[in-house]
Amino acid sequence: MSRRQFLASAAAIGAASAVQSLIIPPAAWAAAPKIIRADTRVIEVAGRAANVLGLVQPDGTHGLTVSAADGFQVRLENALAAPTLIHWHGLTPPFGQDGVPDLPQPLLQPGQSYDYNFPIATPGTHWMHAHTLQEQQLLAAPLIVTDPAEDGADEQPVVVLLHDFSFKTPEELLAGLTGSAPASDNGGMAGHAMSGMGTQGMSTERGMAMPMDVNDIEYDAYLSNDRTLDDPQVFTVERNGTVRLRLINGATATAFWIDTGTLEGEVIAVDGNPVVPLRGSGFPLAMGQRIDIRLSIPGDKGAWPILALREGGVQRTGFVLATMGGEVKRIASAGDRAGPPLDLSFETRLAAAKPLAERIADIHEPVELGGAMQGYSWTLNGRTWSNHQPIPVKKGGRVELTMRNASMMGHPMHLHGHHFQVVAIDGRRFAGAVRDTVWMPPMREVTVAFDAVNPGTWAFHCHHLYHMATGMMTVVDYIA
Ligand code: C2O
Ligand code: CU
Repeated sequence: MSRRQFLASAAAIGAASAVQSLIIPPAAWAAAPKIIRADTRVIEVAGRAANVLGLVQPDGTHGLTVSAADGFQVRLENALAAPTLIHWHGLTPPFGQDGVPDLPQPLLQPGQSYDYNFPIATPGTHWMHAHTLQEQQLLAAPLIVTDPAEDGADEQPVVVLLHDFSFKTPEELLAGLTGSAPASDNGGMAGHAMSGMGTQGMSTERGMAMPMDVNDIEYDAYLSNDRTLDDPQVFTVERNGTVRLRLINGATATAFWIDTGTLEGEVIAVDGNPVVPLRGSGFPLAMGQRIDIRLSIPGDKGAWPILALREGGVQRTGFVLATMGGEVKRIASAGDRAGPPLDLSFETRLAAAKPLAERIADIHEPVELGGAMQGYSWTLNGRTWSNHQPIPVKKGGRVELTMRNASMMGHPMHLHGHHFQVVAIDGRRFAGAVRDTVWMPPMREVTVAFDAVNPGTWAFHCHHLYHMATGMMTVVDYIA
């Protein structure tokens, strides 16, 4: 199914009157709105000019920072030659302003604009991106919501959006995945244009070695704020200063390990939500996820690279923190060791700083993640989007979704309109992180809980763009 057909089928569902009746039109703005323009840009990747898209303010700033106190008052303008729409990933708008095509807003036509206006309940490190294949073309940018309670904090924000870049069009990449490649018995794609497909040995609980699939696309480059390690962004930091990394995995199909090197960090938030601080120097970051890491800069002059290593590959991207006079050394874009597959060991150690209220769930729904590289079809509860069955919940209820990954590939699962708390991993209950996207490794089970307080028909999907585009999406649906 092409993206156009995919959108058309979404349109048919979006047209249902029950959906339309839920739309709350935005109220008038109190002050002049911020303008965000979807536009074309030219960046340089590996010495070549690359035509990409972007989300820019009139002064040229890519991305947006707003205060939670001001709410979200934004006019989105489409300066592209093609229709588009932007989703505010991490915000919990009223249904109608979420930015998923036909859920319920139709695509924004060239030259047109949409107005958004709603209070922000979720400060933190978020992002905004097209909910279409345009995400691959970098129609994605940071969306930082500052918390007035932290206004006095003496820390320097360093905002970086990671991305996977290809000189091919997303349509070509998708066709390469769904094409009639001869499938080999390990589920790999030998002889296929997508040579980046990796298979890693994985031991199951039963001790059997199973082939696990990572990285179904070979990209031309991995970017940190549009730049590769050949010409990384260097942030000037102060000796003895405190830096707050706000890192966003805006890649479409690549999970990373963040490596803070010799600077030990303290994770203070995931997906914008505060966690009990956790120290370390290596942290997993799946597509769609964000992580805030606090770093103390040493008292001597110096330079510290912060790297993002591709899961299951030697490729890496990153940026540098340097004091005045600190010597920035060249770092190769390929390391000598492949990053391991993402797992749940970090997730297991996270604890929400602001957990959900204790409550027995009244709604339990299983969600089975299925699919395979062979045929490139990915499903939720055995169904693709064109055939999806909404996950029914009731307004006001405490919902628990128990996701089980029955496929041999990891999936970052994202729910719109809510943040959820991770409350169990493989049946073991704990008060884990509150977040909006959780990594589901092969053959693992994760339960998330949320309160159904934001009625709508909310997208629930894998944040691997090509898994979503080939069907790995459904909705969580309830009315006011
Ligand atoms: Cu970041 Cu459904 O999206
Ligand atoms: Cu997936």
